[in-house]
Amino acid sequence: MEKLVIENSGKLQGNIRVSGAKNASLPILAATLLGTEDIILEDVPKLKDVEIICDVLRALGASVENLGDGTYKINSKNINTYETKYELMSKMRASFLVMGPLLGRMNKAKNSLPGGCTIGARPIDLHLKGFRALGVECEEHYGDSDNGQDSYILAHTENLVGNKVYLDFPSVGATENIMMAAVLAKGKTVIENAAMEPEIVDLSNFLRKLGGNIKGAGTNTIIIEGVEKLYGARHQIIPDRIEAGTFMVAAAITGGDIVVENVIPDHLRPVISKLEEAGCIIKEDGENVRVIGPEKLIPIDIKTLPYPGFPTDMQAQFMAMMTQAEGDNTVIETVFENRFMHVDEFKRMGASISVNDRSATINGRSQLVGNKVYATDLRCGAALILAGFVASGETEIYNIYHIDRGYENIEEKLRGIGGKIRREID
Ligand code: EPZ
Repeated sequence: MEKLVIENSGKLQGNIRVSGAKNASLPILAATLLGTEDIILEDVPKLKDVEIICDVLRALGASVENLGDGTYKINSKNINTYETKYELMSKMRASFLVMGPLLGRMNKAKNSLPGGCTIGARPIDLHLKGFRALGVECEEHYGDSDNGQDSYILAHTENLVGNKVYLDFPSVGATENIMMAAVLAKGKTVIENAAMEPEIVDLSNFLRKLGGNIKGAGTNTIIIEGVEKLYGARHQIIPDRIEAGTFMVAAAITGGDIVVENVIPDHLRPVISKLEEAGCIIKEDGENVRVIGPEKLIPIDIKTLPYPGFPTDMQAQFMAMMTQAEGDNTVIETVFENRFMHVDEFKRMGASISVNDRSATINGRSQLVGNKVYATDLRCGAALILAGFVASGETEIYNIYHIDRGYENIEEKLRGIGGKIRREID
C-alpha cells in the first residue's frame, strides 16, 4: 500500500506554482458534452479525478485526447448513449455532473446515484429539484444492494423548458448541473440562491464561449436564455484557489516564506484575511502571493460558509495550523455535516482538539509527534502533510489516493520549497 512519509521540514521557503482548478475542470469537462465541435481546454490539472471524468466522457461516445502539458482536445459531436455506467459513477461523485449536459443534448440521462463520502451524505435533491423545474421526469430507483450498484436516477423529458428555480442551499454542484441543462432549454431559466464560487463563473464563461447565453454567474441569481445549439471553444481553466490556499498555510504553519505563483488573489479574500489575523505577512504581486509566516501564530476563529465566505475546503488545513497557535482557536463547519474526520488524526499526533456537533476548539500550542495517520478525504490528507512538516519524527500518511485526486505532483511541488516528503510502498 502506498504512503507518504513526512519529516519535520523547518521553515519552508521558495516558490511554488498552482495548477488549474480541480473544481472548475470537472464541471467544464462535463460541459464539453454540450458542444458539437472541437473544444480545446488548457491548464487542466493532472489528477485522478480528471482521468475518471475523461473516461466517463469516452464511455458516452466523446473523443477525448490528452495533448500533454494540461491541454485536452475534446469533441462530443457523436455521443451515443445517455447512460453512465455504475463502475465509473461510483469512482467519483462529481461524475453526476454529466446529468445536466446529457439532458441538454439528449433529453435523457441515466446515472447511478453518487455515493456519499466521509464528509457527508452529499444528497442530490437540489439537482433533481432543478431538473424537475425544467420539465424533466426524474425517476429515483433505489435497489437493495448495499453498494448502491442497482440504485440509479432515470431522467427524461419531451423537451427542456426554462423555469425559475430556487435553491434551498447554494449548492455548487446543483447550480452547475442546472446551468448545463438550462443552456439548451427552450426559454429563460432563473436560478435563485445560486452558488457564487469562482468555479461557477469559470463554467459560465466556458458555456458562453460555446455559444450559451448566461448572465449573473458569480451572483446569487443566474439568468440563462436557452439557445438551439452549442459549438466549440478554446478555454483556459482558472487556477486552483484551494491548492493555493493549502500552500499559503504551509508558510504559515512552518513560519516560512513562500511565493505562491499562478494565483487569483480575489478568489482567496477570506483565506488571506484569516492568515493575516493569524500573524502572517501577505504580499500580493499580480498573480503571485508571498506569505511570510510569523514566529508565533495568533489563535483565530473561522466559520465555513458558501462563497464568498471562508471555504470549507480550507478548514482542515487551517485546523492543522491552529494546533501551533498559543491559546484557543475555534472552527465552525456550516457546509458539511461531518467534516471533522481529520480531528482524530490530528489527535493521534498529539493535538488538543474538542468537537461539539459542528464546532471544534483547537487548544494550541501542541508539539505534534509523527505517527501513522489516515487521509479520510482529500483536504484531510493535505492537512496531515502540513502537520507532518512541523511534527517531530516521521509522519506516515495512508489512503493517499485521496490526495492524488486533488493535488497534482504534490511531493515534487512541496520538495521544491524544502518539504521533506516521499512516497513509499508499505
Ligand atoms: C463542491 O461539492 C466541491 N466539489 C467540494 O469540494 C466543495 O467542498 C463543495 O462544493 C462546497 O464548496 C466539486 O466542485 C467537484 P455542494 P458539491 O452541493 O457540489 C448540500 C473538494 O475537497 N446539498 O455545494 O458536492 C450538501 O449536503 C470537494 O475539492 C444538498 O443538501 O457541494 C452539503 O451539505 C469536497 N442537496 C452542501 O449542500 C443537494 O442536492 C454543499 O454541497 C446538493 C447539496
